[in-house]
Amino acid sequence: MQSELRMKMLDAFTKSGDEFVSGQHLADVLNCSRTAVWKHIEELRKEGFILEAVKRKGYRIIKAPDHIGVDEIRFGLQTDKLGKNIHYEESVGSTQKIASRLVLEGAPEGTIVIAEEQVAGRGRMDRSWHSPKYTGIWMSVILRPNIPPQKAPQLTLITAVAVVQAMEEAGLHPAIKWPNDILLNGKKATGILTELQADADRIQAVIIGIGINVNQKREDYPEELQSIATSMSIEAGKQLDRAQILQHVLYHLEKLYLLYLDKGFQPIKLLWESYAITIGKKITARSISETIHGKALGITEDGVLLIEDESGKQHHIYSADIEL
Ligand code: BTN
Repeated sequence: MQSELRMKMLDAFTKSGDEFVSGQHLADVLNCSRTAVWKHIEELRKEGFILEAVKRKGYRIIKAPDHIGVDEIRFGLQTDKLGKNIHYEESVGSTQKIASRLVLEGAPEGTIVIAEEQVAGRGRMDRSWHSPKYTGIWMSVILRPNIPPQKAPQLTLITAVAVVQAMEEAGLHPAIKWPNDILLNGKKATGILTELQADADRIQAVIIGIGINVNQKREDYPEELQSIATSMSIEAGKQLDRAQILQHVLYHLEKLYLLYLDKGFQPIKLLWESYAITIGKKITARSISETIHGKALGITEDGVLLIEDESGKQHHIYSADIEL
């Protein structure tokens, strides 16, 4: 919607307070037809406004979209480093892409890139990531740990534990499916994509992309995703505060990251395993090059999944889709 029309429409709603604004009044204010008013109302809905429409009364706004801007993230953030430097944009291709540029420009550890919408959100294995406006947390976190590149997958597992802990604070019971899917009631609610900028033996930076489905409704998902994806709000049965969840994720991530730098991967591994639904189960791991059936034995020190097939042979799985 053009911004001038938007302003006029929102002004009309603001002036009416809790009262309904008739379709005719909106048509007069916007100087357009009633059908065009209805289209504008639909656009507002798509942008996260919750509107009530009642025959012969008109429309009223029940709730404006919950935005997460820099102020909302900063206010109440309980970290020392993570999220102290925030790069915010309303709409981006992918926050990962912006974060890689910021890494090259020397962005400090703890910088986060956050967007209300991604139009080319990236998932694992070259997939896209559905990132509609005002509904989720689409964030990339820049870390600069002094560890060899082969240990970078551990950071994905650290992040998964951090997100799980933040979801538990919202009263939910998440589980982790190796390596980085967080499930609620068996459906995917979060994906994590870790990308590296590294020399042969040293990491320059790790960019951890976190996509959390927070306030989507079931009908917001394209049909092909409805049976496999969910949101925190669908599972909690209520709208949730995205900025607060984001703050909790950063809080837990910082704590776990510091624990990792101090004590190594072992304490994280134990935590991760306590949330993992894959371990001890018969699974199928599909990668681009092969498909392996077997029992998931656990993860190695490097976060690699170990599977034992029917002949007793053990396989190290670095990247794959897991079916339970
Ligand atoms: C997956 O396939 O499970 C990983 C999805 C990761 C999505 C997040 S959203 C924020 C960041 N920017 C992206 O383009 N992708 C990651």
